[in-house]
Amino acid sequence: MLRTHTCGELTKSNIEETVTLGGWVETIRDFGQGKFIDIRDRYGRTQIVISPSSNEQVLAVVEDLKREYVVQVSGKVRRRPTGQENPKISTGEIEIETTELTILNQSKTPPFLPGQEELPNEDLRLKHRYLDLRRPQMQQTMYLRSKITKSIRDYFDQHGFLDIETPILGRSTPEGARDYLVPSRVHNGEFYALPQSPQIYKQLMMIAGYDRYVQVARCFRDEDLRADRQPEFTQLDMEMSFVETDDVIGIIDGLVKKLAKEFADLDVELPLPRMTYDEAMTRFGHDAPDLRFGMEIVDCTDVAAKTEFRVFRGVADSGNFVRGINAAGAADKFSRKRIDELTTYVQEDFGAKGLAWFKVDGGKLASPIAKNFDEAHLEEIKTKMDAKDGDLLLFIADSWEVSCKALNGLRKRLGAELEMYDPKVMKFSWVVEFPMFEHDDEEKRWVAMHHPFTAPRDEDLATLASDPGKARAKAYDLIINGYEAGGGTIRIHDSEVQQQVFGLLGMDETSARERFGFLLDALSYGAPPHGGIALGIDRIVMLFAGLDNIRDCITFPKTQRASDLMTEAPSVVEDKHMEELGIALREKDDDDKSV
Ligand code: AMO
Ligand code: AMP
Repeated sequence: MLRTHTCGELTKSNIEETVTLGGWVETIRDFGQGKFIDIRDRYGRTQIVISPSSNEQVLAVVEDLKREYVVQVSGKVRRRPTGQENPKISTGEIEIETTELTILNQSKTPPFLPGQEELPNEDLRLKHRYLDLRRPQMQQTMYLRSKITKSIRDYFDQHGFLDIETPILGRSTPEGARDYLVPSRVHNGEFYALPQSPQIYKQLMMIAGYDRYVQVARCFRDEDLRADRQPEFTQLDMEMSFVETDDVIGIIDGLVKKLAKEFADLDVELPLPRMTYDEAMTRFGHDAPDLRFGMEIVDCTDVAAKTEFRVFRGVADSGNFVRGINAAGAADKFSRKRIDELTTYVQEDFGAKGLAWFKVDGGKLASPIAKNFDEAHLEEIKTKMDAKDGDLLLFIADSWEVSCKALNGLRKRLGAELEMYDPKVMKFSWVVEFPMFEHDDEEKRWVAMHHPFTAPRDEDLATLASDPGKARAKAYDLIINGYEAGGGTIRIHDSEVQQQVFGLLGMDETSARERFGFLLDALSYGAPPHGGIALGIDRIVMLFAGLDNIRDCITFPKTQRASDLMTEAPSVVEDKHMEELGIALREKDDDDKSV
């Protein structure tokens, strides 16, 4: 070994020992009568001291040292002089009196210093990811990620799950995004699809009798990227046989409790709270509500219908909704100018037509629009909104969809701006009973809200065909702090019901057989009732690390435009390679590169 200890290990108990460390030069401070050098590795940093009385070898080498050089240092551990201790680091009470110093490797001047306080520009970080990954914050996140994954694996092992791998080169699985395709050399003109998830394979494993399956699975989805989405991400994927919703939720509840204790020191009470999709949309305007704070949506359509205010009355009369939120105590913080900014926000981001507002002052609702309301109606609004002096009330009058989107946007934005929650708190919950289908108005057809293998609730089976929009699924999402951390369902295990759902999704028998014949066949050879879930590991790490960008939890992530700035993937390939694959490029008509 080239070292006896790491840079995060030495304490008072090692005083007088002779040690050898290896690490990167983080800082070099010259105090005339000596040099203090911090060397760093992923365990911490240690101060080494070189004084004028150090030996000549050391004095010669130290002159050549630069930041990020890799060095090997030997010397004696000694106590730092009183007043020179650094309580912020584990090695803060000691330093090394250097007797040997070797440069193991040099470094060019780095574009940024891993030890610098200020966060470098993200493109630069991604281009030199190996330097970025040297930053202590990144190293802590990767450590956390490793520990979380290990803890999850242990949990499933203790619960009798088998860790099973499934293919990466396979057939397309419909999770709602575009597939990444891999051309086949052996079968020119044919393609494999990278898995959007192991969904179908894990169902086949249930049919094969492996009743408790788990996998840490890489998934690939060619979709528009956001701060919480990557084209390549990792799921904790599991499936169970002979289960109902409560069984799957019960297993994940236990996992959440374990993770919350180990990684956030939180004692979570079980069962985790559940609400239906309808309730979530009514109270929060979103199917992944952030339960760290209140500011719930209140429906005032009935009062609005009685008022003289043209906007409210018109919307209520046409069967739409007037709903609002109470930003308690925020009246002072929102000048006209800031309210105008909120108005532009709801208009531009969610297509709302406007934003109506009131401030509560001296027990009365004040607003430029207040003159359009009778005193009694204002009083009724005040009571419904539980409004007190100093509160700011915000209303959206619109369709159900727009009011959900705009009020959810406002609620999240104000919740953060007004610091309505402790960022250290974590709230876990379930949203259940999602609709089976969503209507795609552009394509004029139903699409599966989760995926096409999801079972309808037993009571909705009869009306599935007659009223698909009303059918509710045996589906459940795990929500953490307003993020969808996981999603799963009980599956259809009857080939006829599966065929019927394919039909509702616009696949006739022939095309269903063409795409999923193997699954329909498998379902007809004794498929047990089964269901499961997948958790987004990157998102879970992001949440436990208190971060808001999934890229910070992934070693080599892609940019918003799905490229890797370091390796410059994707890249052009050689003609010879294309020829083998039987592929020729042609000009793309549409120049939209955003998708
Ligand atoms: P779903 O599509 O809901 O379900 O995915 C499960 C979880 O994976 C995470 N996730 C993502 N994380 C990062 N980047 C992405 N692009 C991304 N997409 C999804 C989310 C999500 O909750 N086969 C089903 C599961 C099942 O039914 O068992 C599935 O994949 O946290
Ligand atoms: P107008 O009469 O259109 O100028 O609107 C008067 C006020 O009502 C303005 O403050 C608008 O922002 C607000 N408003 C207009 N349309 C809506 C709507 N659909 N929902 C909520 N407020 C609205």
